[in-house]
Amino acid sequence: MVTISRIRTEKVPFWASIRVKILLAFFVVVGVSFLVAATNLTGLVSNYLTEQRTREDTQAAENLAGVFGPMMQTADSAALNNRLRESAEGLNGRLLLLDTDGKVQFDSFNALCGQRLPLPEVLRVLMLDETSAYGMHQPGGETVERMSGESGAEYVAYGAHELLGPRGRNGVLLYVSRIQGMVDSLNAVSSQLNTVFIVIAVAALILALFLSRLLTTPIVNLSRTMRKMGKGDLSVRVPEKGSGELRQLAENYNTMAAQLENLDRSRNQFVSNASHELKTPLATMKILLETMMYQPDMPGEVREEFMADMNHEIDRLTGIITDLLTLTRMDNKSDALKMEEIDLSGLTEETVRLLTPAARKRGQRLESSVAPDLRIRGDRTKLNQVLYNLIDNAMKYTQDGGEIHVSLEEKNDQAIWRVRDNGVGIPPEDQEHIFDRFYRVDKARSRETGGTGLGLSIVRQLVGMHQGQVYVESEPGKGSCFVVELPRNGKGAGAV
Ligand SMILES: Nc1ncnc2c1ncn2[C@@H]1O[C@H](COP(=O)(O)OP(=O)(O)OP(=O)(O)O)[C@@H](O)[C@H]1O
Ligand SMILES: [Mg+2]
Repeated sequence: MVTISRIRTEKVPFWASIRVKILLAFFVVVGVSFLVAATNLTGLVSNYLTEQRTREDTQAAENLAGVFGPMMQTADSAALNNRLRESAEGLNGRLLLLDTDGKVQFDSFNALCGQRLPLPEVLRVLMLDETSAYGMHQPGGETVERMSGESGAEYVAYGAHELLGPRGRNGVLLYVSRIQGMVDSLNAVSSQLNTVFIVIAVAALILALFLSRLLTTPIVNLSRTMRKMGKGDLSVRVPEKGSGELRQLAENYNTMAAQLENLDRSRNQFVSNASHELKTPLATMKILLETMMYQPDMPGEVREEFMADMNHEIDRLTGIITDLLTLTRMDNKSDALKMEEIDLSGLTEETVRLLTPAARKRGQRLESSVAPDLRIRGDRTKLNQVLYNLIDNAMKYTQDGGEIHVSLEEKNDQAIWRVRDNGVGIPPEDQEHIFDRFYRVDKARSRETGGTGLGLSIVRQLVGMHQGQVYVESEPGKGSCFVVELPRNGKGAGAV
């Protein structure tokens, strides 16, 4: 039993939609990669600038130490002071000369003379015996202004270098370097990168919005169409736009929907045809029965005739129902073929022999020419029914005294049946329809002969199950020839 679960009709919340997922993915990929790139770039620039500045400042301190070291003892203080000031102005910084105790002896700003300056760089040279030391600091605006004379700055750098006189080390040169400019340009680079990042992120967001819309529109359309179909409207289709897999999805869906619609239509038609066919014999029987009920004094022979007619209608009803059951069973694939090796020559001769008395009754000549010992793999009962239905038709649609010829031969590893008659024939425009269910060329006439239009559709289905084919060649007024081709080693659909 098939259970049909309810189609979901509520809209997907925005946060759970595929659009948001695409958007997020896009944003994360673009965002993270740019963030990594920007951080790396800022780090690179900052390293480059600080290293270069360190090298320059250390070099300057070394050069100056080479000049002022020997001068510490020999030159007079006024000359040394002048020289120191000139050099400091040239560097746009401050120069101090400290003795080995760390006390300032000379200062280009002339402010800290006699004071101790326990700066880490000075201590490293004096206490740890390093030749030179350099460090950048952020000691706060006040200290920076006091040390470098630069107002509004946050950063300052100290470069210390030992001073060597003729009798060895005689102090430390301290170069106070203004590095706020460098820090400012570094900040400018990173703020520019931030701006670029924001611009790119916004652009990515807009692009992602656009792209996600492009990607999700077909899916949303498909879902909407499915919802409508789920409510019973089988005529809706998805627009087949775009390209690639999504277009293919839409096309495949539409093909499936068309097939479903077709199936639905033919099923409805089948049901209405079947009910109509069943109604006719019932109506006839009701009339016969009512006539008998309301005419109790009906002559005995008329009553008997009525009863015979009713019996005939009951046979007809049974026949229709048997045919309908056969067809539905085949539709549901529950009627699997019982494949076995069968003697088709024997089967053909037997069927012809069985039907000969009926043909003889109508003065028809039923003849056969059967290739001997033709064996095939197939379902005996079903193949028997195929031949029976074809000969039955040939007899039904051929006038009394007509001729019917049945032949069996082998060609290209196929068994071929031909059932030929010289009966009424089939107009060309009807030939393609006679295998459809309930299709009859001449409705009034075939009802007279008891036909429902199911015989040939059963034939086509059974032959198809044997991987064979059936077709007709016919000329109205001259007769028809039905040809069945069956592969000799047929695998058979649903074989057991
Ligand atoms: N040998 C034939 N000669 C002329 N017309 C034929 C022949 N065989 C079939 N037909 C036409 O094809 C129609 C369909 O045949 P089919 O066997 O399916 O139905 P039927 O014979 O009318 O009824 P059923 O076989 O279900 O009792 C027939 O009604 C008839 O008009
Ligand atoms: Mg028939």
